[in-house]
Amino acid sequence: MSASRPSAALLAATLAVTFLPATAGAETPVERGDYLVNSILACGNCHTPMGPDGPQAGMTLAGGTRFEAPPFTVHASNITPDTATGIGAWSDADLKTAIVGGVRPDGVPLAPIMPYAFYRVMTPADLEGLVAYLRTVAPVAHAVPPPEYRQIIRAEPPPGFEQPATAADLSTPEGRGKYLVGIGHCMECHTSRGPHSEPAFATGFGAGGMEFPGPWGVSVAANITASKAKGLGDWTDAEIARAITEGVGRDGARLKPPMGYGFYAKLKPGDVADIIAYLRTVPAVE
Ligand code: HEC
Ligand code: HEC
Repeated sequence: MSASRPSAALLAATLAVTFLPATAGAETPVERGDYLVNSILACGNCHTPMGPDGPQAGMTLAGGTRFEAPPFTVHASNITPDTATGIGAWSDADLKTAIVGGVRPDGVPLAPIMPYAFYRVMTPADLEGLVAYLRTVAPVAHAVPPPEYRQIIRAEPPPGFEQPATAADLSTPEGRGKYLVGIGHCMECHTSRGPHSEPAFATGFGAGGMEFPGPWGVSVAANITASKAKGLGDWTDAEIARAITEGVGRDGARLKPPMGYGFYAKLKPGDVADIIAYLRTVPAVE
C-alpha cells in the first residue's frame, strides 16, 4: 500500500492550504477602511441621514443631519465622492487634513462636532485605508446647507491621544483597546463637560453625564470608568460587550441612541475584547 506515502500532489495541496490563508487574510487598505468606517469609526452615525427606521437607504454618507450646538449650527457634510456636492474633487491630502486636522481645503476650520481631535491618534495606514474606502462609496448628489459659525473653537485631543499610535502602542490588548476607544471618539460623549461645555478630560474622563435629547427623549452618557459603584467596575466582560455591540444595558433594557450600537455590532470579537481590556484601566471617577 502506498497510502502512507504522501504524493507530490498531496504535498503541494498541503502547502497551498498552509500558505493561502495568510495571503487571503491580508486586508487591502480599502477593506481596512471599510471595516473601520462601518464599525468603530461609525462615520455614518452622523454623516448618513437618519429616518425613523435608522440610516436612510441610498443616502449613505450623503450628509444633512443638523447639529444645533451653540456657537455652531452645522450640517454633517456630504462625504460621498460626488464632485459637486461631496468630496469628489478633494485630494487625499485635503481629506486627511479635514479628518485629523479639522480644517477644510479653503482653510476654514470645521466645527468640533466633527470629532477630528479624536482622529489625531489614527495610524497613517488606517488613515490611508479610510480615505481609500471613502473613494469607493457610491456618489450621492445632495447639497447640504452651509455652516453658521458664530465663534471659532478648536478641539484638542484627550491627554495621551495626541499622536498617531505606534506599533509599540498597539502591542498589548490594552494599547489596542485604547486606540479603538480613541478613534471611536467614545470619550467625546462619555467625558463630563466643563463650564463652557468643553470635555473635562482632566477630571471627568469617562465619567459620563452628557445629555442627548432626541426623538427617544433624553439619554445620558453613562460612566464607563472602572468605578465599581458608578461605572463598569462590577460588570462582566460579556455584559460590557453586549452593551457596546447590541445596545442592551446590564439590566437587559434597550439602551438609547445616539451611541452607534449598530456600527459596533460589526466589530471583530478580538477588537471588542481589546476595548474592554482598556476600559478596565480607565481610572475610576465616582
Ligand atoms: C459626531 C458626528 C460626526 C462624526 C462621528 C463624524 N463627522 Fe465628519 N463632520 C461632522 C459635521 C457636523 C461636519 C460639518 C462641520 C462643519 O460644517 O463645520 C463634518 C465634516 C466632515 C468633513 C468635511 C467635509 C466638508 O465638505 O466640509 C469630512 C471630510 C468629514 N466630516 C469626514 C468624516 C469621517 C471620515 C468620519 C469618520 C471617521 C466623520 N467625519 C465622523 C460630524 C461628524
Ligand atoms: C454619540 C455619543 C456616544 C458615543 C460616541 C459612545 N457612547 Fe456609549 N453611551 C452613550 C449614551 C448616551 C449611553 C447611555 C444610553 C442609555 O442609557 O440609554 C451610552 C452607554 C454606554 C454603555 C452602557 C453603560 C451603562 O451604564 O449602561 C457602554 C458600556 C458604553 N456606552 C461604551 C461606549 C464605548 C466603548 C464607546 C466607543 C466605542 C461609546 N460608548 C461611544 C453615548 C455614546
